[in-house]
Amino acid sequence: MNRRVYLDHNASTPVHPEVLQAMLPYFSERFGNPSSVHGFGREARDGMETAREQIADFLKVSKDEIVFTSGGTESDNLGIKGLAAARGSGHIITSQIEHHAVLRTVQTLEEQGFTATYLPVDGDGMVNPDDVKKALRADTILVSLMGANSEVGTLQPIREIGRITREAAVPLHVDGVQTVGKVPIDMGAFGIDLLSFSGHKIYGPKGVAGLYIRKGTKMASIQHGGEHERRRRAGTENVAGIVGLGKAVEIRGRDMAVEGARLTALRDRLWEGVRAGVAEVRLNGHPTERLPGTCNVCFHDIESESIVLGLDLKGIGVSAGSACTSGNVEPSYVLEAKGLPLDWAMGSVRCSLGRGTTAEDIEYVIESVVPLVAKLKTLSPVAGAAPAVS
Ligand SMILES: Cc1ncc(COP(=O)(O)O)c(C=O)c1O
Repeated sequence: MNRRVYLDHNASTPVHPEVLQAMLPYFSERFGNPSSVHGFGREARDGMETAREQIADFLKVSKDEIVFTSGGTESDNLGIKGLAAARGSGHIITSQIEHHAVLRTVQTLEEQGFTATYLPVDGDGMVNPDDVKKALRADTILVSLMGANSEVGTLQPIREIGRITREAAVPLHVDGVQTVGKVPIDMGAFGIDLLSFSGHKIYGPKGVAGLYIRKGTKMASIQHGGEHERRRRAGTENVAGIVGLGKAVEIRGRDMAVEGARLTALRDRLWEGVRAGVAEVRLNGHPTERLPGTCNVCFHDIESESIVLGLDLKGIGVSAGSACTSGNVEPSYVLEAKGLPLDWAMGSVRCSLGRGTTAEDIEYVIESVVPLVAKLKTLSPVAGAAPAVS
């Protein structure tokens, strides 16, 4: 039996045992509708409000500024479309490397008459704050940028960007789905007006997330129905999920610093091990300003799918930077925006480490990937065939 090593924590994480324990009663005895006035409803509401407090405490914001949603995607949609709908028209600044939850939302708004600027990034995947400043216009209604990139892990200079948006009195939305609970965020100092975060990236359940909305930010609802979430997001709340999200955030507050240092060391060891064993390999993302657990590398003239499949045969779960659409393998738009040549971008592999990752796991991955790449190299240029892995 192969060892099993999960290195895809930026895609999703296992629910923390303490999170699961906190959630369980809300599927059974505390099942009430949190909008109901009776005791059953109050019990559910209490659980939900405790979660709101846990998140508000972690972010050091007021609990009234937290709205629960069905996922990071909805949080991004609510933040961007909700603000745009309240303004009616105007210009939005974002970047070329945002998650599709932001990119496609902004593109949809463009179809409705809004205008947009998609900022470039440098070779490390970083937005230049000066570019934000230059892109601002009299009719700019929003700047939306991610705190950390899911593919390469680069952390954006949100503090500097927040200073610029605040000076210009333009709201700043941060897609913090990969950031919240992984690296510190100082909401006050960063000048963030809207912040998206999601449960399943931080050992909470899937399909539950939140949006921080700074008090006074003019927003319209994008989903219509009941009076839930102070009329900011209609629909009966996912109480058990929200309880889990609150607990997950609370645990991150407790464990984030120590675990971040441990993951950074493991991530760096992984890169060193791979670099020592493979001649043509590059690290993607910023060398230091990067998520603790993210190590995205590209191998020259090898298709990333072949590496992902080869490692899968070894029980290792990583993700490919390239995507296969209708038979054609396409490089990641994030790597393209970074200016990576195609013969490198096609061979990118993302390893994202998490709380269960051990030093032994990392050694096993290094021992597996080095001979696999050597074998695939013999099939190069751009090996499309399935790898022969022993
Ligand atoms: C940066 C970023 N934003 C948004 C999302 C979407 O979040 P969810 O999966 O909770 O809808 C993701 C998910 O990968 C992400 O990485």
